Amino acid sequence: MTWIGARVVRKDAAEKVTGRARFASDLFVPGMLRVRVVRSPVARGRIRRIETSRAREVPGVVAVLTARDIPGRNCIPVVLDDLPLLAAEEVRFHGEPVAVVAAETEAAAEEAARRVEVVVEELPPVLDPLESLKSDAPRLWGDDNVFKRWHVRRGDVDAALQGADLVVAGSYRTPYQEHAYLEPQGMLAVPTPDGGLEVTGSMQCPFYVREGVATVLGLPLASVRVVQATTGGAFGGKEDVPSIVAGQAALVAWKTGRPARLIYTRDEDILSMSKRHPGLVESRYGFARNGTLLAADVRYILDAGAYATLSPVVAWRGTVHAVGPYRCENVRVETLAVATNKVPCGAFRGFGSPQVLFAAESQMDEAAHRLGLDPVEVRRRNLLRDGDVTPTGQRLRAEVGLGEALERVVAASGWAEKRASGPGTGTRRYGIGCSVVHYGVCLGAGGRNLDRAGAFVQVMYDGSAIYAVGTTEMGQGMHTVLAQVVAEELGLPYDAVRPVASDTHMVPDSGPTVASRTTMMSGNALRRAAAPIRRTLQEVAASLLGQADPADIRLENGRATAPDGRSVDYDEVLHRCFLERRPLASSAMAVSPETSWDPETGAGDAYITYAFAANVVEVAVDVETGEVEVLRVHAAHDLGRAVNPTGVEGQIEGGSAQGLGYALLEEILHDARGRMVNHRFSTYLIPTARDVPPIHAHIVEHPTEVGPYGAKGFGEQPLMGIAPAVANAVFHATGVRMREVPITPERLWRALRDGGPR
Ligand code: MOS
Repeated sequence: MTWIGARVVRKDAAEKVTGRARFASDLFVPGMLRVRVVRSPVARGRIRRIETSRAREVPGVVAVLTARDIPGRNCIPVVLDDLPLLAAEEVRFHGEPVAVVAAETEAAAEEAARRVEVVVEELPPVLDPLESLKSDAPRLWGDDNVFKRWHVRRGDVDAALQGADLVVAGSYRTPYQEHAYLEPQGMLAVPTPDGGLEVTGSMQCPFYVREGVATVLGLPLASVRVVQATTGGAFGGKEDVPSIVAGQAALVAWKTGRPARLIYTRDEDILSMSKRHPGLVESRYGFARNGTLLAADVRYILDAGAYATLSPVVAWRGTVHAVGPYRCENVRVETLAVATNKVPCGAFRGFGSPQVLFAAESQMDEAAHRLGLDPVEVRRRNLLRDGDVTPTGQRLRAEVGLGEALERVVAASGWAEKRASGPGTGTRRYGIGCSVVHYGVCLGAGGRNLDRAGAFVQVMYDGSAIYAVGTTEMGQGMHTVLAQVVAEELGLPYDAVRPVASDTHMVPDSGPTVASRTTMMSGNALRRAAAPIRRTLQEVAASLLGQADPADIRLENGRATAPDGRSVDYDEVLHRCFLERRPLASSAMAVSPETSWDPETGAGDAYITYAFAANVVEVAVDVETGEVEVLRVHAAHDLGRAVNPTGVEGQIEGGSAQGLGYALLEEILHDARGRMVNHRFSTYLIPTARDVPPIHAHIVEHPTEVGPYGAKGFGEQPLMGIAPAVANAVFHATGVRMREVPITPERLWRALRDGGPR
């Protein structure tokens, strides 16, 4: 192959490094209003009154709108449809939107928003999911404050635990995590002369935005056109919530008949936009003396925040991944997504799995320690191999590259020698730890109705080409790999292929750009769309070359070649296509293969395929201060086929860095009244270049038949196993098991003081 597997330059590299790329805040149209949002000052309360008269007095103010001004439904549809665009009678979290203000200038809008007085009767908030589950807790949702429950019940867990030589039990806690994407949320809504609306902005999921805007305004889907602006990172944080931002801007545009732009400040973005769910995991694992995992009993509680939004599906993915990539016959998982009066949680790279995998991979490490076995050895004994059955009862039909991934990082890191030489004795102790993970690629049974994608391809008569897909580029490199796919399929130079910005009017609903599904779904859709064009090129070339069977014509880099070596340039082929009026444009859909899931047992084929990863992390711990310095990360990923190895390495580096932030630095804090206290980058700490150690990426390729050229998605996986590998390395260094992340110096120092290094 020419382009698949090649390290081509990113499609969007030049526009981004030169600053030409247009982000939401670079969008201007004449007559554009600026929009600001008025937010709840409390975590829980009844709205008594919204006083707007003082705001309307500000010069330049054009509109002050509340829930009463919404012409359609006051709802951003996600799963349970419980999220209002603007709070009407009650507020359920600090920072919840209550009103929008539009003005001629940013300053006027800002001033007017400050002057809107939201009079609320404050009620005691529920801030902890365990409190929320108590029978006397205030009712936030349904009868029990549980948005969604899932479970897995396989085998006989109690009997297996009873018969086990060792039972390892632990409680694990993980925090909120903020996506910290490059630019805050932002949308521009422009009324069109025909009575519709065009929305452009930062987003992952144009079709969600379209549905949100159409619902709020009561418009047909065909009247709302959504186009993605350049989006600088999302990580799940621009999956569902951009629909809120778009709805707010669109409401203003609709009511005033003028273009309206809303760019969130970083402050309100962190305060009010979705985050990773805090997690609580109670685990009991049973092992045989030789290290065989006999049973896993997991209770997984997700703190969902004030509205359900994506929590039901986040909880589902977490449930499927709860025991990690191991054979285990006896499995009980109970997962609950619980309502609290905090910012609603949603999608974030890994989607419900990093929390529970922190527990799972810490449990395996603890078992190794208690059994006197090497942590790698315990994993070797249990990990999924070809033809094995997952903890949710799915037989793996594709090759499993997990064992190979583990051996790669073990060899490359010098694991055996480093474990043998141990942590040393001074103030600075050395530690090395590992983890293995699997990830269900695409939406799986939890989102099967959404798992399709559309594509459009057109070749011009000069040999250049465009394509459009319904998934989005958000910095992950989608357009690079998809342009490689188009170039490969049509025998075009990579540079001749240009992407079109994602646009709901160009391609059919392609579902969300999530779940590491883009390479696979849009790649498959593009291959299908390119197929008839490819056939046309072959037929025309065959007739020019006097070749009987068009299928024998090879298309490569702008030339068509017959088996005997005679060839013809695309200039000539395309000119003939023009004269013969042959179509060189085509659309197609790719639909995900079927999955199965029995909600009663929690068993079935949850996902169409899995990607796999192994991580080794090396640390140095200062046992007097509790500081952890990460020395090195080795990460090996079985992603089927690396369409662009440079992009793969970038994903591994970025995901590892984000995982290190999760492990060591990042947490959101609230005061006793439920108000978030660190909604700024000066107080919410993410890793900087100085915190990121050398990251060694290793590519393992076991192709899957369901992906283009064997590729599986893997974009979320690099983050998922980092936190447990860090905690396991800290355990190796100090003998202290950290069951809560982030492992801040304060937390580790306290644990060292109480537990003491050995
Ligand atoms: Mo993703 S966390 O599936 O947007």
